[in-house]
Amino acid sequence: MTFDAALLTEIRDKFHHADVCPIQGPRAFFENAGGSLTLKAAVERTAELLAFPDNQGRTNVASKYLVDVIEQGRADMKLLLGASSGEVFIGESGTELLGRLVRNAVFAGSGSLVIGSHLEHPATYSPCRRWAPIAGMTYEQVDFDTETTVVSVDQYRPAITPDLAVATIIHASPVTGMHVDIGAIAAEIRAVAPDCFIIVDGIQHAAHGRVDIDDYDVDGYVVSGYKLFSRHNFGVAWISDRLAAMPHDQLDGAPETVWELGTRDTSAYAAFSEVVRYLEWLGSAVAGDAAAASPRELIETAAVAIRAQEQDLVDAMMWGTGGLSGLGQLDSVHVVGPANSEHRSGMISFTIDGHDSLDVVDELNADGVRTHARKQDYYSAGVLKPLDLVNCVRASASHYNSRAEVERMLATVNRLAGA
Ligand SMILES: Cc1ncc(COP(=O)(O)O)c(C=O)c1O
Repeated sequence: MTFDAALLTEIRDKFHHADVCPIQGPRAFFENAGGSLTLKAAVERTAELLAFPDNQGRTNVASKYLVDVIEQGRADMKLLLGASSGEVFIGESGTELLGRLVRNAVFAGSGSLVIGSHLEHPATYSPCRRWAPIAGMTYEQVDFDTETTVVSVDQYRPAITPDLAVATIIHASPVTGMHVDIGAIAAEIRAVAPDCFIIVDGIQHAAHGRVDIDDYDVDGYVVSGYKLFSRHNFGVAWISDRLAAMPHDQLDGAPETVWELGTRDTSAYAAFSEVVRYLEWLGSAVAGDAAAASPRELIETAAVAIRAQEQDLVDAMMWGTGGLSGLGQLDSVHVVGPANSEHRSGMISFTIDGHDSLDVVDELNADGVRTHARKQDYYSAGVLKPLDLVNCVRASASHYNSRAEVERMLATVNRLAGA
């Protein structure tokens, strides 16, 4: 089931700049893998709390209020991530948090091997490459399946040995747009190396589907505020009780499981709470009978609805809409990965014969359609090289996009493809 027009209007109205770029003017936003639209409520709450002069941990009422906001933020982070145990905390960015988790896991881990995959973002493989040898360990990246553009148990299995200290898994690729069955990979790792620290990069996935940390049996999961309807300048990490208790950078004498360093930005916690309130609202809007549902059920309902809506947008991109041919129907357009895949999460990367993808992105920009090019730079080379792609256009949707916006994108693509 997809959103009706009235609900889609209501949804879009909750975000800043849904229709209009503040610099360029009217545009359709298909750059959600670069960063989602921002909830108005997250901006308002951020501004309100940034203005507070008080610090946390004092006896005055304003200070106590700030601490309450942080505690609520933590509870909301666990709610959204589906985590009933462990610790949550914010850091500078997703990259910073993943680096910190990997580094501490490597030095806490027992074993001689660290593994990840070539589907990963440098935010996980860079710290693995750096810290594994320093800790006297070997780091290996398994290949992904270049046909499905997904990594699965099949690719991880040969690299899993009892000597595994740390494993990293990407939940969804911001290049191929496919999501990964992290639970299955984690189960395979646990069966062979039960004490392995498993760290998941959930940064691309979290805005597009459910996160059920209680079901994954992993030790770390990271998301970024600006990729999840909130704002820049913070990421959120969840860590298992086991990883939380491991030695890590902290002030001498601080409680063992505190991983935050220094004074926290209350407004980041508050902005995250606004994201959770929004998803609860969306869950109740689609469920209708909201009164009976728990907050977690509302979030799960929202996640199912988001997935269905994004699938409709992907179908429109792939198979056409408004009388225009889709990416999967144009002879000179080549889609990255299978046209139909249950792993595809709101995104399609593609190339057009005879056109450099960087130029295609410029043409789309000129026509008021925001996309992004992925090229063989230090962010994407690891994924594009095995796919034999110099570059590609990435059209990344979110649940607030419309078929009319897809039509706008396809108009330019059809023109360039000579259709
Ligand atoms: C899968 C993935 N991991 C990590 C990152 C880095 O996140 P951040 O910009 O919060 O450091 C990104 C950003 O594009 C990403 O898509």
